[in-house]
Amino acid sequence: MSKQILVTGGTGYIGSHTVVELQNEGFDVVVVDDLSNSSIEVLDAIEKITGKRPAFEKFNLTDQEKTNAFFEKYRRIEAIVHFAAYKAVGESVEKPLEYYHNNLVSLMNLLGSMRKHKIPYMVFSSSCTVYGQPEKLPVTEDTPRKPAESPYGNTKAVSEDIMRDFARATEGINCIALRYFNPIGAHPSALIGELPVGVPNNLVPFITQTAAGLRDELKIFGDDYNTPDGTAIRDYINVVDLAKAHVVAINRLLNNKQKASYEFFNVGTGEGYSVMQLVKAFIKATGVELKYSVVGRRAGDIEKYGPIPRMRIMNWAGRLRKHSKKH
Ligand code: UD1
Repeated sequence: MSKQILVTGGTGYIGSHTVVELQNEGFDVVVVDDLSNSSIEVLDAIEKITGKRPAFEKFNLTDQEKTNAFFEKYRRIEAIVHFAAYKAVGESVEKPLEYYHNNLVSLMNLLGSMRKHKIPYMVFSSSCTVYGQPEKLPVTEDTPRKPAESPYGNTKAVSEDIMRDFARATEGINCIALRYFNPIGAHPSALIGELPVGVPNNLVPFITQTAAGLRDELKIFGDDYNTPDGTAIRDYINVVDLAKAHVVAINRLLNNKQKASYEFFNVGTGEGYSVMQLVKAFIKATGVELKYSVVGRRAGDIEKYGPIPRMRIMNWAGRLRKHSKKH
């Protein structure tokens, strides 16, 4: 019988792509999601892609009674991939208590359930936000963590610490945190993708919704950063590659390959692109004239994460020089 994996937040952006990859690998997936930032139709799409509909339960994991009842019902679960969390940086500054409550209580409920029901493995959705603005690039796992810039970021750092301490203290519990850089893109079928509820906070869904006519114009937050074109630089990773990283982490745990009860890994490409480069690439690839304007920096934004490869800086600087000569 195939191994059963719980994916919390499994109808969300990274969650849904991970459910697809886990099912493609033959795992039996159960999804828990409260649908606060995703829609139930994602399950139909997953079924279309993989030929298999994951089991689904709708509830919020901060509800301990419902969480207990869930684990009483699904007794075959061997590992958890935990995505379910609030993730809007700006909103977390406005509503810190809601963010701490939702993101930390749900994790602690799950860890408690792992101990009670002898579920040994968890893969946790963390973020490169735990590094703050790093002193040097590239950011590796040896880069020290910095105090978080937002309550959201702090929930990721504190969650990592809770998991680390719990895994160390509890025989048979092993956890891996994956610190993602910026996931973008969609499944090649185009049946699932990034579909946040309401106005998107993140760059790429804002670009696509503007291109589709749902938003008037993209606002580029700041062009006075210390970067070649002045816009901020991120390490963008394809969401399907990121989803596959979760399968690798799950297999590492299931095959007892981990070197410590708690491990963390960065997941990115190791290369940086600016916001402006991304916008230009989108326009070039789609032929859609995207309306955009540059506004002030967004509070709490980091200047750069990914290093720009040497060759690309040289080409880029050349293009900028040519461009500025024309004007
Ligand atoms: C942020 C968090 C990250 C979190 C992710 C998910 C930080 C440093 N990073 O990533 O931990 O997992 O959100 O929500 O806290 N931009 C625009 N216009 C827009 C939207 C974005 O110019 O309308 C720019 C931003 O200023 C930034 C880049 O695009 O330079 C990427 O932004 P975004 O997609 O929101 O991701 P991060 O802020 O990098």
